[in-house]
Amino acid sequence: MPTEVQAPSHLLMHLKMLSSKYQFSDKKQPTGTVIGIDLQLVNPLDSATILSEHDFTKPETQEKILHLLNGKKADVVLSDMAPNATGVKSLDHELIINLCFAALKFSRDNLKEDGTFLCKFLQGGRWKYLESAMKQMFREVRLVKPLASRTDSAEAFALGRHFVPHR
Ligand SMILES: C[S@@+](CC[C@H](N)C(=O)[O-])C[C@H]1O[C@@H](n2cnc3c(N)ncnc32)[C@H](O)[C@@H]1O
Repeated sequence: MPTEVQAPSHLLMHLKMLSSKYQFSDKKQPTGTVIGIDLQLVNPLDSATILSEHDFTKPETQEKILHLLNGKKADVVLSDMAPNATGVKSLDHELIINLCFAALKFSRDNLKEDGTFLCKFLQGGRWKYLESAMKQMFREVRLVKPLASRTDSAEAFALGRHFVPHR
């Protein structure tokens, strides 16, 4: 007898890798909804709904995402959005942190209780503000530096786990 599984909703800002993670052939495994967004042209993927050439920070894009979520909350909001590098370290840091805040603000309203948030950023002075905002929303907040990320790169990921709505 087939096992009933709940379909999680995953909201990903331009994420190809994670969508394929949910291409299960075994029908007993959970299947999910993956929504990807990117400013650039992204080829369609069988396992995800892609909002190609969409600016995540625009209200009209977020309205489209809400429409696709169809009243559900997301299990995961994941952003590896990054603006084109200017080469000015402090400016690149500021611009990417702004994108993290945009994703965090969206999560505040659209993430499921106990959900997960992950965003890529470049380390710098404004991390402490992002961390502080995340601590008001998540029971666990960590800076993550994956092995795949070069040690001499400022790149890091802010991970929030166990979302507490309207804390
Ligand atoms: C580091 S790349 C991510 C690449 C992607 N993960 C991949 O594997 O191809 C950063 C991406 O963020 C996108 N981006 C930057 N600002 C954005 C925004 N406001 N809305 C949506 N995507 C944005 C860029 O277009 C770029 O493709």
